[in-house]
Amino acid sequence: MIINNEKNDSSENFFNTTLLISNKSLFPAVKYLKKRFNILYNDEIEKNNVLPSVTGLLSSGYDLVDKSFLDRLPNLKVISHFASGLDSIDVDEVKKRNIVVLNTPNAVVNDTADLAMAFILNLSRRFFINHRFVENGLWRKHVYPLSHSVTNKCVGIVGLGKIGKAIAKRCSAFNMNIHYWGRTNQKISNYTFHNNLSEMSKKVDFLVISCAGNEQTKGIIDENILANLQSTAYVINVARGFIIKQDALIISLQNNQIAGAGLDVFEDEPNVPHVFFQMKNVLLQPHAGSATEETRNIMFHRVSKHLINFYSTH
Ligand code: 8YV
Repeated sequence: MIINNEKNDSSENFFNTTLLISNKSLFPAVKYLKKRFNILYNDEIEKNNVLPSVTGLLSSGYDLVDKSFLDRLPNLKVISHFASGLDSIDVDEVKKRNIVVLNTPNAVVNDTADLAMAFILNLSRRFFINHRFVENGLWRKHVYPLSHSVTNKCVGIVGLGKIGKAIAKRCSAFNMNIHYWGRTNQKISNYTFHNNLSEMSKKVDFLVISCAGNEQTKGIIDENILANLQSTAYVINVARGFIIKQDALIISLQNNQIAGAGLDVFEDEPNVPHVFFQMKNVLLQPHAGSATEETRNIMFHRVSKHLINFYSTH
């Protein structure tokens, strides 16, 4: 499997093969592809149809590319995936079939880290609560509760990969203390490594989830980890919903065991438990880590380029 092939496109050819576009959110990429490929849209096809003409797939993180989906594409050679995470793809099945997978790991890093930082600042400074306070005309009529500084606070980053490092860099600029948990001690000066997630959880003011979502990380933020957090701590998730046991998180918020949460991702997207809507200390986003004009344009361009490069060389 080749990941993140960034070779240049030297060809202007029509490749005379068919690409399947897995959902409507990917349509902006089609402008780069339509002169070179026949295009089929999954939304317009009978769900069980087998598509022997399709040799390339453009998929997003919202599409399940599992065995039954792959069975519909018997001649598939390449998947260009509009995401960093490969959790929606059955990678073992893809390997068995010698299908090449190309993704966009670098494009999403900064915006996703910015969103994590935005959660840290908005939650600690009670932006949303104070906004409502002003909007409801309560200023000078009531006293609003003081918020909390981020300066000198302790962030615990779960997974110090590219996104985790970008979050740490932002937190350092705010004079926060950086702790992280991961598989390896990366020996970064001023960052404190923990090989025990429970121990790290006891110390932090913000637990920020930024690790890859896979079988190893599924449910690692469970009732025990949540119970270890201080009652003043916030949980922030910009990775994958299933890394946190969502029911356990709800119980810990309901019992005021933690101060609040910032959630961009959920266990069963786009379904978000309504109980979160009543919680003033919870900020919600619609899996929007990479959803800026700038980053999405780079991603649309890159996934198209991956396909063009693949067919230029195969
Ligand atoms: C994607 C993401 O934009 O890159 C990822 O892994 O979670 C998002 O940035 C989303 O999955 C849509 O494909």
